[in-house]
Amino acid sequence: MLPAKLKKTLKRDIKQSGHPREKAVDVMYAVQSHYGYLSDEGLAEAAELLGMSELELEELATFYDYIYRRPVGKYVLHVCDGVVCWMCHEGWECVGEEESIVTYLCARLGVEVGETTPDGLFTVLPSACIGYCENAPAMLVNGKPYGPLTPASLDEVLEELRNQPPEEMVVDR
Ligand code: FES
Repeated sequence: MLPAKLKKTLKRDIKQSGHPREKAVDVMYAVQSHYGYLSDEGLAEAAELLGMSELELEELATFYDYIYRRPVGKYVLHVCDGVVCWMCHEGWECVGEEESIVTYLCARLGVEVGETTPDGLFTVLPSACIGYCENAPAMLVNGKPYGPLTPASLDEVLEELRNQPPEEMVVDR
């Protein structure tokens, strides 16, 4: 259940907006931040706050790459699947079969796209262009951009994240 304080804040924001539906994405993000993902319970609470049906909100939630309807890891690696990033894999031939960020990451972490590592640290998800083309190939980790990525720099990023203290790094997954 959402904390009373958060509910109060969201109700106030919705009321001030004039058009509650305009706040739907913000409310879903706030609820997601609380639960770690947009759980069924969270979706129902968000729908009630917004005066929308759960189905209406579900349709909206599944439209956004950054709203998670299933639990995700502490770090969500949004690997850019855009054209520029696909064209900029200079230096990646050295890793043979693992010729792209996503295949390399998945092999390194032992997961498929969409899965979370057993330790709950990493989830790998594809993303449309993240607006970081000048640093392609790129990815976002909890909202922070990384690039241009090479196999070596990807290993460094994973190591850096593994060594983060528990509260470090934004929770904006
Ligand atoms: S295509 Fe990857 S950041 Fe734009």
